[in-house]
Amino acid sequence: MQSFVLSRDAAHLVILQRIELASPRLKKIRKLFGRYLFSRIFSKYLINPKVISYNYYNIMKNEFLTIKEFLNDNNKFLSIGSGMGGLEVIINNNFKESSFTMIERDFVSKKIKYGWDNKNSEAYNNFKLLEEFLQKNKVDQKKYEIIDYDKQKLPPRKFDVITSLYSLDFHYDFEIYRDYLSQSSNKNTAIIFDTIRPQFFKNIFKFVEIIKEDNNTLHKSKRIVCREFI
Ligand SMILES: C[S@@+](CC[C@H](N)C(=O)[O-])C[C@H]1O[C@@H](n2cnc3c(N)ncnc32)[C@H](O)[C@@H]1O
Repeated sequence: MQSFVLSRDAAHLVILQRIELASPRLKKIRKLFGRYLFSRIFSKYLINPKVISYNYYNIMKNEFLTIKEFLNDNNKFLSIGSGMGGLEVIINNNFKESSFTMIERDFVSKKIKYGWDNKNSEAYNNFKLLEEFLQKNKVDQKKYEIIDYDKQKLPPRKFDVITSLYSLDFHYDFEIYRDYLSQSSNKNTAIIFDTIRPQFFKNIFKFVEIIKEDNNTLHKSKRIVCREFI
């Protein structure tokens, strides 16, 4: 049985990042007691970290398969809104010479609302837990760096693959990262993210391809791979 090494604290955040991991019972409890108690208490203590770990692994393995054809060894990856880093662990297991830059936020919103957030004020991560998770799952410390979106300058480097699963243009506007993405990509960089408006990106990139359709999520989003800013 393949799964991640995942502490209860990390499993708590994984539930908030991937709400599909919450059981129907937990979702009922959220309805009854509200978002504050759900985000703080129930999503941490009414879960089985082993089950979450197994299910999170399988979700991330499937996500990996949707993007695998765009990956190579030696790639420099940028992940915007990596969450707990399950995808990066799986990429690292498959492509041993890769390196990872993750841009995230180091706080958990009090009452998480899932959906479009014009102000981009929501986040659910913790850098200490993220580091711990990567190390316990055997991503060498030399191979990754974690950048705080709210406090640090974004690294002025080019990347081979840029991913943002259910983050950029799913919860907040692509514009926030547009200039940075154009500086940190070259014409071969694959920029992969989930959006409800794939057609819009044909005005921004030379190449846009839909690689996954999500008809079960609230947003009915599509995963696209884009190359070359126009
Ligand atoms: C729905 S979760 C998805 C996490 C992960 N990509 C996954 O697929 O499991 C969205 C993530 O985006 C992060 N986030 C929110 N605003 C961000 C920003 N401006 N820059 C980078 N990450 C952000 C949140 O903290 C959260 O971890």
